[in-house]
Amino acid sequence: MSAHEPWQLVGTSAELYERYLVPSITALWATDLVSRANPRSGDRVLDVACGTGIVARTASERMSSGRIVGLDINDGMLAVARSIPMGGGPLVEWMEGSALQLPFPEDAFDLVLCQLGLQFFPNQSLALNEMFRVLRTEGRVAVSVYSAIENTPVAHGLVDALDRHLGPGASKIKRSEHSFTAPSELHHLATKAGFRDVTVETVTQTIRFTSPREYVRLQIAATPMAVMVAEMESAEREAVIDGITNEVKGILQNSDGEELSSPQEAFVMLGKK
Ligand SMILES: C[S@@+](CC[C@H](N)C(=O)[O-])C[C@H]1O[C@@H](n2cnc3c(N)ncnc32)[C@H](O)[C@@H]1O
Repeated sequence: MSAHEPWQLVGTSAELYERYLVPSITALWATDLVSRANPRSGDRVLDVACGTGIVARTASERMSSGRIVGLDINDGMLAVARSIPMGGGPLVEWMEGSALQLPFPEDAFDLVLCQLGLQFFPNQSLALNEMFRVLRTEGRVAVSVYSAIENTPVAHGLVDALDRHLGPGASKIKRSEHSFTAPSELHHLATKAGFRDVTVETVTQTIRFTSPREYVRLQIAATPMAVMVAEMESAEREAVIDGITNEVKGILQNSDGEELSSPQEAFVMLGKK
């Protein structure tokens, strides 16, 4: 994509998230998480913090029957999820709701999935208690969170530049994605909620964008960081993107104009009720 392409690609942040960040980032994690969780035909599956629905759709592709619910607190993300055609597996029921108060009775699901959402919840213990409550006995849980930001060079390179160009604290949202720094933290939360046979594996994917500028631009446009530049004139916004890109370029790419690729690390937890 050209460096001069206007900021506003057509679409909301949620649409940009689905169009660009899902294929480059979260689809990789969804394939991994769903394959570890191994949904079976006939299962009742809940995807907590489903966003635009990549995990629920990936689960559906592996099932010929069953119930799949995708739940998220953000109606913009759910609107995009609803607009995406499904494959041949069970249709997904998209529901607005909070991970802290799941709108389901006990024993409602055989499998609960939660990808890259737990770190954002204001009460992570409560969210895991809720996942435990809605599972049947012997039901399975699979949860992923990013690890320490230092282990994802592309994100680590971005955060200091964000603070310098957009003001102190601008990187708070990005840093909060990486609030888990050791597998034991996730393990402890899961066992405290009652889960047994808990394992937490450290997993690395390679994420790719067409250029460092494209990465910087989408990290701002297609995430909650969009509010920080929403009021800016187009020229000012482009200058901020250029400034941040120039600062982090050395870390984000091998040479100017080339594809950006970076390892991205996460913790993946599996457990049983
Ligand atoms: C990084 S996105 C991940 C979305 C999706 N799981 C994926 O992998 O593409 C985090 C999601 O968590 C959702 N979220 C944040 N707090 C939540 C809460 N308390 N309850 C439910 N969803 C929440 C956000 O709306 C957002 O869609």
